[in-house]
Amino acid sequence: MKNTTGPKNKICLVTGGNSGVGKAMAMGLARADMSVIILCRNEQKAKQAINEIKRKTQNTKVDYMLADLSKQKSIHQFVKKFKSKYTALHILSNNAGILNAKRELTLDGIESTLAVDYLSHFLLTNLLLDLLKSSQPSRIVTVAGGPLMLKRANIHFDNIQFRDRYNGIKAAVQAALARVIWTHELAKRLTGTGVTANTFHPGLVQSNLTRNIPLLGKPLSKLSQLLLSSRCKTGLYLTLSPGVEQITGCYFVNKKAINLFAKDDIRPTAERLWEISETFTAIK
Ligand SMILES: NC(=O)c1ccc[n+]([C@@H]2O[C@H](COP(=O)([O-])OP(=O)(O)OC[C@H]3O[C@@H](n4cnc5c(N)ncnc54)[C@H](OP(=O)(O)O)[C@@H]3O)[C@@H](O)[C@H]2O)c1
Repeated sequence: MKNTTGPKNKICLVTGGNSGVGKAMAMGLARADMSVIILCRNEQKAKQAINEIKRKTQNTKVDYMLADLSKQKSIHQFVKKFKSKYTALHILSNNAGILNAKRELTLDGIESTLAVDYLSHFLLTNLLLDLLKSSQPSRIVTVAGGPLMLKRANIHFDNIQFRDRYNGIKAAVQAALARVIWTHELAKRLTGTGVTANTFHPGLVQSNLTRNIPLLGKPLSKLSQLLLSSRCKTGLYLTLSPGVEQITGCYFVNKKAINLFAKDDIRPTAERLWEISETFTAIK
């Protein structure tokens, strides 16, 4: 039977919801009168963000929950808590990300960009799939990056954690490509469930992403707050528009689906990535 839950009763979970793309998504979903929970690692920033979102949207159904996406244990604890608090999930908006000038390892011993940008969302989404399925129609919408950059990118299976030749930008681009390829495979596996999964390029949205880059990073973050948009039109189109309710496994730029690669060519890479991700996150 078709679920006719109106926006008022729709529940959205937004990672990275206190800054950048995540905050723009949370703001737009709150404006659409949905219940919005932002997943954040820092309580002070989370409180500040939900107060701002409530004030600007006049929506009081905005809350936060804490989790550190660099720690798999924290993600498991978060999901347990989320499921004890909420009995449905209609929109999962995956946006949290980092950009590190120096290679760092998480407590789980994984290169941090791969862990936070990609593996955390792979794990979080998989752990929430039962709830998304029982809440169908539901949508998983994940931020990626620009098409020019992604077309030239690779998943470096022989050096996926950049043990050699670390480069923060390359690590972030690989993670963005991983999100696109994983989503393509996820959508395939979700066929017939009423859950869709898509990725998108946000364009240029106000961001704090460069804050860990020495010298230029903080001024760039400030400049971005002044010059860039605080809205995320394509991401919100994918989460809210009835026109894309049946669309799945696609990558969107400016509200249009773009073919980054031939779908048959990507299958072996997608399957290999899925297997590796299962091993990293121990969810098999
Ligand atoms: N902004 C753009 O125009 C743009 C364009 C293309 C792609 N993207 C992609 O979008 C993603 C987000 O970028 P952004 O611009 O929104 O960056 P941002 O402004 O720095 O926001 C990143 C968010 O992720 C959160 N986060 C980082 N590490 C976390 C962790 N361990 N646990 C929980 N949350 C964590 C941050 O929390 P804290 O505030 O606590 O650090 C923050 O809320 C990145 O992957 C980026 O590559 C952005």
